[in-house]
Amino acid sequence: MNSITQPQDFWADVPRDIACAAVIGAGAMGGGIAAQFANAGIEVILLDMPGDQDAPDAPARAGLARQVKINGFMGPSGPGRIITGNVTDDLHLLARADWIIEAVVERLDVKRALYARVDAVRKPGSIVSSNTSTLLHAQLIDGMSEAFRRDFVISHFFNPPRVMPLLEVVSTDRTDPALLGRVQAGARDLLGKTVINCRDTPGFIANRIGCFWMASAALLAREQGLTIEEADAVHQAMGIPKTGVFGLFDLIGIDLVPTVWRSLVDGLPSDDRFHRYDIASDPLFAGLVAEGRFGRKSGSGFFRKTPGGLEASDLSTGDWRATRPVAARDLPGGGRDLLALLDDPGRFGTYARAVLAEVIAYAAEHGPAIAANPADIDVAMRLGYAWREGPFTLADKWGPTKLQAHLRESGLPVPELVTQAVERGAFYADGRFLTADSEAAAAERPLTVAALRKAGRTILGNASATLLDSGDGVGLLEIHTKMNSLHPEVLDLIEETLPLLGARLSALVIGNDDARAFSVGADLKFILSMIDQGREAELAAYIDRGQRLFLGLRHAPAPVVAGVHGFALGGGCELALHADRIVAHAEARFGLPEVTVGLIPAWGGCTTLLARGEAEGLTPEAAALRAATTIFGAAQSGSAEEALTSGILSPLDRLVMHRDSLLSTARALALALLRDGYTAPEQATVLPARAADFAALAANGSNYDRHVLTGLARVLGGDSPRSVVENMAIEREVLFDLIARAETRARMAHMLETGKPLRN
Ligand code: NAI
Repeated sequence: MNSITQPQDFWADVPRDIACAAVIGAGAMGGGIAAQFANAGIEVILLDMPGDQDAPDAPARAGLARQVKINGFMGPSGPGRIITGNVTDDLHLLARADWIIEAVVERLDVKRALYARVDAVRKPGSIVSSNTSTLLHAQLIDGMSEAFRRDFVISHFFNPPRVMPLLEVVSTDRTDPALLGRVQAGARDLLGKTVINCRDTPGFIANRIGCFWMASAALLAREQGLTIEEADAVHQAMGIPKTGVFGLFDLIGIDLVPTVWRSLVDGLPSDDRFHRYDIASDPLFAGLVAEGRFGRKSGSGFFRKTPGGLEASDLSTGDWRATRPVAARDLPGGGRDLLALLDDPGRFGTYARAVLAEVIAYAAEHGPAIAANPADIDVAMRLGYAWREGPFTLADKWGPTKLQAHLRESGLPVPELVTQAVERGAFYADGRFLTADSEAAAAERPLTVAALRKAGRTILGNASATLLDSGDGVGLLEIHTKMNSLHPEVLDLIEETLPLLGARLSALVIGNDDARAFSVGADLKFILSMIDQGREAELAAYIDRGQRLFLGLRHAPAPVVAGVHGFALGGGCELALHADRIVAHAEARFGLPEVTVGLIPAWGGCTTLLARGEAEGLTPEAAALRAATTIFGAAQSGSAEEALTSGILSPLDRLVMHRDSLLSTARALALALLRDGYTAPEQATVLPARAADFAALAANGSNYDRHVLTGLARVLGGDSPRSVVENMAIEREVLFDLIARAETRARMAHMLETGKPLRN
């Protein structure tokens, strides 16, 4: 059994180069950035303006409270890591900070006045950064001390900071390279952000290209006589979210046009193509702003909701009319085939070509001047604007030669990068961008299943799962069914893997590259079909086999580490629970939702939760009650930390902030366990609760809820210690009692039909 460990161990693998961060300005951005540092287990000082005499820290506290309300924190521990204060009384606290982030109002004079004061109290070598979105690095540091200039960067986060994965970092030749490295590592490892390195130019990368795209897409739609629904549908067919371009204006607020777009137009030289699409001076946009039609925040923009339904604005007259949605099937290629759309001689193809060519040409022309690596424009558009693929990747799909021909036909200049792509055949070859330094690119590549597969490192595999060799004797077991559900073939692969553990493989990682799920567990449809077809014996064999194989992993003579991100539900969660350790991505969503379909977790889910509680030092009663609350509540955690609170994760498990580091961290942990003299855990014993009162959990439930709870109480309660195997046998018995009941069948069928639980 595990020893009792302090809860902070969960954060132990998050690097500690930045031990203390400070954020000045506790508004939308500053509060969110402070919360994200706290989510990583870092102590944070959060300062704002002074409040009145009775409550001098009220503004900072209000910012913190706001983050609690809007879910800026991933769990209950975060707020306790934040010390609030004000810039009049508490500036000296900044002397403790390794990284000071300024996120005050967007005014050059205010920021610069603050920097002079910050510079006087900060410790030597501390990082200072600004979250400005429009001011230039050069303006901000002008006249500041030499040390300040060396230690200062712009760190431009996106809103909300917990959710948005992109961070733009602007440095100059004067920036200390080691300090810049600390910023990049901290942003990735502590804050989970993907950093792109920007040069000091207006709008940096994402907003420079993104705002150009929005402006050109809007004005070209009007010039070419498309409706706003048609333009948005064409964009969706190019892999841009269904909000499209006009929907996006409504979402972010058309009132930003006179400030954000104006500042870009004013900041760029007159020959920059941004001026061709100057929406800040365009009568259409000026009219909307003058009428207060700001978009969703004011109730109307390009769209408005009326009692009669959604209305759209006519682009040439500005009149309202009922929306005329455009179905994907009405687009060339059914809205799924980019090439069919770009080859279409009609108006949709003409519009798609015009917008895409403008954006790619603009990105290619300015890429080298705005980005340390122009390929980061693709990253910026994916992570900052939610494009499925960035402009250069789209250009490769279109074909650089076709793009070049289109630019020439349209009388547009052909940027040097496009010419190079035509000569080489593509912007990307083997995943490497035209201008990329191949060694640097290779060094940065994270451990992925795709890379191992490409390198021919497959050991075993079937249609549902693959075992790969990640080197140093560490296997990587990848499930690759739909949402990585546990098809019987996955069990086949685990069965074939077990004998290799401790022999050919000295450790095992379970994980994948999937963006959405570790595993969503058993396939409900499959289970229901077995029940309906009277194949109970087969179902029983499937359940038994899962129990046996999961226990096999638990007791294997080699360490097993699960790398979990996205959904880990039901059997997927139970699979992870049988690993020696779980390395969890911060935003992983764990859950045991079986009760909602009239079942209990029976691949050891109940038993492991009980054992984990006891290993943490809880009494049998407290451990059982916590397990029952988690299982009967059937909630999905909103984060890894929430899963720690509900007892699914243990303090011995580990947190990873950046998704890309998940598999390499899991692998490193497996190797560390091995180095520390790993021995397989002995068969554990659980102490069921003698006197826990579970009844309150179903106080407001149905009779059938109470029946399920009684079954759960059988697994978690009892008079004497039981081995894990004995306890899992009870899980199985209870499960089969439930499977045989009509109410459970009805719950399963309802869930499959409606996606919602039936509380019969
Ligand atoms: P906000 O208005 O929500 O918050 C600003 C906070 O700074 C307020 O709490 C204010 O009391 C405080 N403040 C003002 N002057 C101060 C001073 N001298 N000392 C201490 N605190 C002071 O603003 P928001 O949206 O958080 O923006 C902050 C910065 O982040 C700005 O530079 C903005 O351009 C930038 N930004 C904003 C984004 C957004 O979507 N809101 C996105 C990216 C960057």
